[in-house]
Amino acid sequence: MARTPIIAGNWKMNKGTDGEATELVRELKPLVAGSGGAEVVLCPPYTALHAVRQAIEGTSLRLGAQDLFWKNTGAYTGRISGLMLADAGVTYVIVGHSEARGRFGVPEPDFTPDVLKHFGETDVTVNRKTKAALDTGLVPIVCVGETLVERQNGHTDGVVQTQVQAALNAVSAEQAAGIVFAYEPVWAIGTGEVCGADEADRVCSVVRATVASLYDDQTAGDVRIQYGGSMKPDNAADLLARPHIDGGLIGGASLKAADFAAVVGAARA
Ligand code: 13P
Repeated sequence: MARTPIIAGNWKMNKGTDGEATELVRELKPLVAGSGGAEVVLCPPYTALHAVRQAIEGTSLRLGAQDLFWKNTGAYTGRISGLMLADAGVTYVIVGHSEARGRFGVPEPDFTPDVLKHFGETDVTVNRKTKAALDTGLVPIVCVGETLVERQNGHTDGVVQTQVQAALNAVSAEQAAGIVFAYEPVWAIGTGEVCGADEADRVCSVVRATVASLYDDQTAGDVRIQYGGSMKPDNAADLLARPHIDGGLIGGASLKAADFAAVVGAARA
């Protein structure tokens, strides 16, 4: 069956006040009106989930979150569970973003090793979060991708395979089929440097082949794979036309209504 394209806006730590979030959705709604052709997801900071939920009511837009913790309740100060997100109207949740893994496209020179511990996502925690999302009825958007140094050393495919395999540890084929992966080459995130469409499609095909090797061709054929990393109106159509690229995870361009709407338009075309 054909895969429905999925465009998600990862607002990161932006537009997190009620006022900013509501204004962005107000601008966006008329531009992406209509439900056909692609799923569209907005992932604001936690603080704006409620405002965005209200602002998108009655539309086909879906609510996403940027992270979750793998326990449902307990003494975990500062953490947010999948149960809480589901209750807040969330249907998608980003897991294992490179920034959460402490792998930044734009260098953060003042992030000393001590500071970097705060961005300590690992393949093991990504797996726990992926399973927690699935168990609480959320669709995880599992992010994978190589750094520039890993690419230059010829390790792109190995890094991506390892990350996909680890995320899917002890996940059933049925659950895996519903997962969204996002291939986000770290060096293309926030840098304006986009991965060429042929290469992005090739690495997405590596993600799909990895899923096939763990399960079967049908599961791999069901999985949706986004490209992320400086995707914007002028390169979206080329990327989204490729056979293994089923959508986009959009950072910077998701903060401008016209740009995000143009990417959505390219996915629908
Ligand atoms: P940019 O689109 O700003 O490069 O960010 C991509 C990203 O990290 C989405 O999760």
